[in-house]
Amino acid sequence: MKLPFAESYRIKMVESIRRTTREEREKWIADVKYNLFSLRTSQVFIDLLTDSGTGAMSDRQWSEMMLGDEGYAGSSSYYKLKDTIKEITGFDYFLPTHQGRAAENVLFSALVKEGDIVPGNSHFDTTKAHIEFRKAHAVDCTIDEAFDTTLDHPFKGNVDVEKLENVLENNSKEKIPLIIITITCNSSGGQPVSLKNMREVSAIAKKYDIPVYCDSARFAENAYFIKIREEGYSDVSIRDIVKEMFSYADGMTMSSKKDAIVNMGGFIGFKYKEIFDKASVYNILFEGFITYGGMSGRDMNAVAQGLFDGTEFDYLETRINQVAYLGQLLKDAGVPVQYPFGGHAIFVDAKRFLPNIPKEEFIAQTLAVELYIEGGVRGVEIGSIMADRDFETGLNRYPDLELMRLAIPRRVYTNDHMNYVAASLINVFDRRKTITKGFRITKEAPILRHFTVELERI
Ligand code: F0G
Repeated sequence: MKLPFAESYRIKMVESIRRTTREEREKWIADVKYNLFSLRTSQVFIDLLTDSGTGAMSDRQWSEMMLGDEGYAGSSSYYKLKDTIKEITGFDYFLPTHQGRAAENVLFSALVKEGDIVPGNSHFDTTKAHIEFRKAHAVDCTIDEAFDTTLDHPFKGNVDVEKLENVLENNSKEKIPLIIITITCNSSGGQPVSLKNMREVSAIAKKYDIPVYCDSARFAENAYFIKIREEGYSDVSIRDIVKEMFSYADGMTMSSKKDAIVNMGGFIGFKYKEIFDKASVYNILFEGFITYGGMSGRDMNAVAQGLFDGTEFDYLETRINQVAYLGQLLKDAGVPVQYPFGGHAIFVDAKRFLPNIPKEEFIAQTLAVELYIEGGVRGVEIGSIMADRDFETGLNRYPDLELMRLAIPRRVYTNDHMNYVAASLINVFDRRKTITKGFRITKEAPILRHFTVELERI
């Protein structure tokens, strides 16, 4: 018999979670005005809100925590992380930050000014917000295939090089401070970018003399997909693929809460000292001294170890197989999901799931609320609420994709949990025709409104 797949780790510590009743959940979600971010974790059975900072650290990472050096300046933890970043990514210079958006804040403070244009592949919401906060424009150059969830394409995160070249050709170089490649591309469904595409973007960027930065939160998952899907890479190691990916960039921003498998942390990697020096000023201003930047020494140690853990093939295979396991259960039941399955999450196509709800009534949010009520499973809306209003016209933006994301924390849940999640969502799918009304907003913040929005049922 062919031996089946099995996880590449065993469990050393557990945390209790509690099932709740439907009546409890109906009351709780109404109490928090239908905002899933406002629930307490004790009110959630399986929490797929995010894979960010929610992973389980390894025994090796916990050991490293004990070795942290808490010196304000020049700690050994800083140098451990610096050497690891050099070894894994190839970048010579780095600045620690407390998380990914802090890395964006520091880097964009040094690079982006009012009126600028920042092309990229479906910028993540914090990335876009940090661009728009500076009254600059994020221009989405993702390939069209990404917006059709039924289409099978191995690299739906790819940048459309024609769209990109169009932006570069029609705007002055002074207005384009950087190009961002998000690996994997979260907003289009955790979809990878191929090395061929990164090479092409890098060549175009060189032609126009514009730096390329990778938004690298899930760079290791991206490398895994390259190894599995891109011609010529099946025999190349994950770490060699990672090195090649970053060789096409001038720098990177990192949310260590994802592929470095820590609960908090981030950094910026730089190829050149000039921009590192410029950004260092903002790091000191916003984050802390350049050898800790918002992180404890022990946390930098855990990131360093996490970068090694997160780039191990066996770990990545376990992780991405689990995400695909959930995806396949849903797909087999006819639930419309972004296909191929993403690296960190399954993205449910809410427009196809709930065709009776108009986009003005927030389709993906409606679905996320229904799933919570059904099974106590918390997903997240990646749709019109998250898209915010256009900062110039004040009108709601309705993105092509209305998605409900089920993000899987790393090394946390078992496949039995995935069975439970799938059954909950399939139950909602079976009664989808009875769901005919969505929500209206009663209170919202001017930017990144999805975190604190309040809603009422229509
Ligand atoms: N870039 C990408 C692609 C992300 O997915 C995130 C965070 C960030 C940057 C910002 O990093 O949270 O450390 O400040 N994504 C989380 C998510 C929040 O749920 O997808 P951060």
